[in-house]
Amino acid sequence: MVPGRVGSERHYSSRHGFILQRKNTRIGVITLGKKVVVTGVPGVGKTTVINGAMERLAAEGIAYETVNFGTFMFEAARRENLVTDRDEMRKLGKDVQKRLQKEAAAGIAAMSGDANVIIDTHSSVKTPAGYLAGLPEWVLRELMPDIVVLVETDPDQILMRRLGDPSRTRDMEGSRAIAQHQEFNRAVAAAYAMYTGCTIKIVRNEDSLLEQGIDDLVSVLR
Ligand code: AP5
Repeated sequence: MVPGRVGSERHYSSRHGFILQRKNTRIGVITLGKKVVVTGVPGVGKTTVINGAMERLAAEGIAYETVNFGTFMFEAARRENLVTDRDEMRKLGKDVQKRLQKEAAAGIAAMSGDANVIIDTHSSVKTPAGYLAGLPEWVLRELMPDIVVLVETDPDQILMRRLGDPSRTRDMEGSRAIAQHQEFNRAVAAAYAMYTGCTIKIVRNEDSLLEQGIDDLVSVLR
């Protein structure tokens, strides 16, 4: 199945025929909400920035739903007794993670419909076997994001945030490894843009500058 986009229209063909959906508010035309995928290495503050943006948008009367991709995967993994903690998922075998990914993508696509949706997830996941793409073809085909956001900050700040967050079992790694992961995330996001025609937005979430990061995210969500 090859998705594509022309102007404000979203096209994709499949074995089951050709489908055309238009972004248009005119009566009689299907209206699609924005699909915004927010990514970033663990502990960079994705969820913190998303929550701040949601508060602002709610005050402006702009409705968004937020969905945590990891939670969808975790619920499926727990049902199968594969893990007891969400931080164990990235240690599962690659094929198991890919299967859970597919299930999560299908579940999110089914529930999100035409609403404006923010999907809190990862551009790539660091597994013992190497980086696993967070949005491979089968996930992108389901989600077809309009925008992929990369939340970033200096690796030293991320390291300190991980150390200061006892609620999670973070992989302990140094600043260089975190920097490499952020670089890889940018590289793989370029492939997502090539495949879907989405834009890539980089949002900085620096210490003491959270409000600036929220402003930046809100500007692409409006
Ligand atoms: P998920 O739950 O998304 O894991 P995570 O990245 O660890 O997410 P967190 O929510 O814990 O971190 P965050 O970056 O949102 O930071 P937070 O806002 O909490 O995913 C779990 C698992 O699911 C993954 O490990 C993976 O296995 C799997 N998964 C998910 N998507 C997948 C996919 N597509 N494919 C395959 N697997 C997938 O903030 C962290 C701390 O920093 C907090 O203490 C906060 O107060 C602080 N902080 C934030 N901003 C600032 C600031 N500006 N200044 C100072 N402190 C700050």
